[in-house]
Amino acid sequence: MFRYLFSRFECENTPRNFQKEIKIMENHGDHSHLQQRKKRRLVLFPLPLQGHINPMLQLASILYHKAGFSITIIHTNFNSPNSSNYPHFSFRSIPDGLSETEASTADIIAFDMLLNVKCAVPFQDCLAELLGGGGGDDDVACLITDAVWYFTQAVADSLKLPRIVLRTSNVCSFNAFAAIPLLYEKGCLPMQDFQFETPVLEIPPLRYKDIPIIETHDPENLNRFLKDMVKQTKVSSGIIWNSFQELDELAMTNLKQEFPIPNFPIGPFHKYFPASSSSLLAQDQTSISWLHKQPPKSVIYVSFGSITGVNETEFQEIAWGLANSKLPFLWVVRPGLVCGTEWLEPLPKNFLEMLDGRGQIVKWAPQQEVLAHSSVGVFWTHNGWNSTLESICEGVPMICQPCFGDQLVNARYVCDVWRFGLRLEKKVERGEIERAIRRVILEAEGQKMRERIMILKDKMDTCLKTGGSSYQSLESLINYIMSF
Ligand code: UDX
Repeated sequence: MFRYLFSRFECENTPRNFQKEIKIMENHGDHSHLQQRKKRRLVLFPLPLQGHINPMLQLASILYHKAGFSITIIHTNFNSPNSSNYPHFSFRSIPDGLSETEASTADIIAFDMLLNVKCAVPFQDCLAELLGGGGGDDDVACLITDAVWYFTQAVADSLKLPRIVLRTSNVCSFNAFAAIPLLYEKGCLPMQDFQFETPVLEIPPLRYKDIPIIETHDPENLNRFLKDMVKQTKVSSGIIWNSFQELDELAMTNLKQEFPIPNFPIGPFHKYFPASSSSLLAQDQTSISWLHKQPPKSVIYVSFGSITGVNETEFQEIAWGLANSKLPFLWVVRPGLVCGTEWLEPLPKNFLEMLDGRGQIVKWAPQQEVLAHSSVGVFWTHNGWNSTLESICEGVPMICQPCFGDQLVNARYVCDVWRFGLRLEKKVERGEIERAIRRVILEAEGQKMRERIMILKDKMDTCLKTGGSSYQSLESLINYIMSF
């Protein structure tokens, strides 16, 4: 079974081309009248994990380029972003007080809760100093924090500063998280094995096995964590979503009944830019030169994001499943993906030589460019929200192997609601992998998936253009912030 783990990343990425970024921004609709307004500063506080840092820094760039806000990023020492990639932002580091052991725990809920305790005082001090004039000449309009930073609502209240929440996942999975405490109260959780396939009436179309449970050493912790996150989101001044109206329509209607605060689905964030700029690891560009040599829509791109890990047996099943498919593959094997190993030691002997160039393994890929490449035919993913959205944006069908949390919800929607993916069950087995790959790349079923995902991709393209849903939502957000 897949599991998750995370670690301290070293920033290795290289500076990017800012002129190119600004040019792309200008081409995405005209918000220039908004830039005439008085200069205001926004203070943003990302959660220090790759899947959360990316959307927060993308949001910062959107608000900087589209509305001319000045930007201050407060960040922890742990996984601090590479500030040299953002010379136009100011960065403030706060001590997180995490020991090496605390920073490398596999218990993500305990980790998030600990951060909420340890960062409270340093964050309050830093924000108070910024409000006292330490942030530059312009005044601070509001605070934008990741929803997981629930302690920041009390800090914002005490400093009389509006707080807007960035929810880095989609609305469907947020509704599912919000329902978990209720399901505990009703006695429906913890779930029994026999319930796995039973529909959850409170959050259709999910089944019990899709409930975004995250394992933690004390199950009561998850309940407490979610209650705090939901409560402090509900009393915030609004929620920004890295999603778009057409994708999350029904879930948004349901959400508004429970959360009658302003909602701004302005995504997909990364499509405002040429490529991701906030990678904590160096992206191996040989991925792209290798893809250039492959036939159109033939390649299986495999990546399980920045946290998920596998054991040695699973790793070998993945390797054989890929090899036996006889199709080309690009596989991201993060150092430490297989717990207790450095990198590729558990690979079968002479594996890559045996494939004669049909397989390419990298430590970290330029994922958005990879997915946009015409040779990629399918994305075998853990369904982290960024990966799922990036795949939709490029019209690439998915093989879904969710591990925990929102990934379970995303996979259900990809396979059963939007219907452009196939789900692999938790046991990783080479025969099943080979069959799934062949179904998506070679069979009519895969072609149908490709057609369906292209329809959604077209809607996404439209939503960012002048008058589109995300365009309008961004305009409302900017006006809202300016009204503070
Ligand atoms: C975490 C959680 O696991 C996920 O469920 C949640 O939705 C967000 O936070 P992570 O597991 O890292 O995220 O996955 P994902 O959300 O997909 O984000 C990974 C990001 O890293 C993506 O933006 C992707 O483009 C990038 N990436 C991934 C690379 O740049 N290169 C790679 O090789 C792999």
